[in-house]
This record gives sequence, C-alpha cells and structure tokens, in this order.
Amino acid sequence: MELDKAISSRKTIRKFKKQNVPNEYLYKIIQSAMLAPSAKNRQPWRFYILDDKQKEDVTNMMYQWGDEYKHIHTSIKGSANQMKTANKVIMIFTPNYHSKNKKTYYKKPDYLSLGAAIEHMNLKCFDLGLGCTWICDTLYVADEISEYLKLDDLEQVSTLIIGYPEEIPERRERFSMDKLLLNDISKNKNT
Ligand SMILES: Cc1cc2nc3c(=O)[nH]c(=O)nc-3n(C[C@H](O)[C@H](O)[C@H](O)COP(=O)(O)O)c2cc1C
Repeated sequence: MELDKAISSRKTIRKFKKQNVPNEYLYKIIQSAMLAPSAKNRQPWRFYILDDKQKEDVTNMMYQWGDEYKHIHTSIKGSANQMKTANKVIMIFTPNYHSKNKKTYYKKPDYLSLGAAIEHMNLKCFDLGLGCTWICDTLYVADEISEYLKLDDLEQVSTLIIGYPEEIPERRERFSMDKLLLNDISKNKNT
C-alpha cells in the first residue's frame, strides 16, 4: 500500500466484528514495531497479547478504577468497553529502568521510541485491513496490570486493541497548518 494512502486513510477504529485475527497477523504487526527507530537503538518495547480471561480481568480493573475515580475520569470505562469487543489486545511494556536503576534520563527518549513503534503497528493494522485503537486509559491501572501478568520489572505504557472494522468513522478534525507551523517559511532564502 502507498504510504500516503495509509497515512491519510488510517483512522482509529472503535467498533469491531467478531471475526478472528490470526496469529500470523499479530506477528506481522509486532515485526513492524521492531523496525521502528529507537533512541540509541535500545528497542525499549516488549509485547504481551492477552487471552480472553486476561482481557476480562484487565477490563474489570479498568471498570473498578472508573467507579472509584468517576469524579475525575470519564473515559476509562468507554475504553474498557471497546477493549472487550476487540478480538485481540496487545499490551505494550517497557523495561522499568526508572525504579530499578534510577536512570531517569532514559525515560523521555524511550517513550518517544515507543510512540514511533506503536504508530508503525497502527499503520500495519490498516495495511492488513484491520482496525485498531491506541489506548492509554490502561495507564491508570498500569501497576496492577504489570503485577497481574507477573511482569513487575516492566512498565505498561500503552495498549493496542485490534479487530476487523465494523465502522468507517469520519476523519477527526485536525488543526490547520497556520496554527501548527510557527514560522513563515515562504520568505526563507534557500541556499
Ligand atoms: C497516545 C494516545 C493515547 C490514546 N488513548 C486512547 C484511549 O485511551 N481511548 C481511546 O478510545 N482512544 C485513544 N486514543 C485514540 C485518539 O483518541 C485518536 O487517535 C484521536 O482522536 C484522533 O483520531 P484518529 O486516530 O482517528 O485520527 C489515543 C491515541 C494516542 C495517540
């Protein structure tokens, strides 16, 4: 698929068909993440694919958190509902340098690397005819998730929920170039 088409047509998909996403596709999605650039080539990404029981347990953690903190947070239950209907849930973790070695300077570049990897996954899903939502609402229960999966030395950073799309959403609005490009380059002298 043409890169331009993938970038301009990809949209977050929140409604999924029941159809099974084969493991072969999951390997392809993870392979696409493995090719992302990363600070000092640290490749700070690790992946865990939930089974159905784990998916139920994690969404219950999110519902519980949503009930407890409903005065400050409203979207976590919606994300949990979406996660329930997705055929596959890939959890993305990173080695927890922070608590282990106090090497906090790793953190920011590693988070940027993780974002690059997750966007590769997003685009690969689209390329394979799948839909996905990049979810960060799992972060509210990140420590509980790491403990539950016995991945205590890893930090949960994002979740990708995947399935065959059941909707074609409208393009979500984007800011204009005027707002985002902070200087006027039309008058720059090119050498
Ligand atoms: C870092 C990040 C975190 C996100 N977290 C959530 C989430 O927790 N729940 C959700 O429904 N969507 C989540 N999204 C999806 C965004 O809402 C979506 O990308 C945005 O509205 C733009 O829509 P588009 O992806 O269709 O262009 C997240 C996206 C990113 C990049």
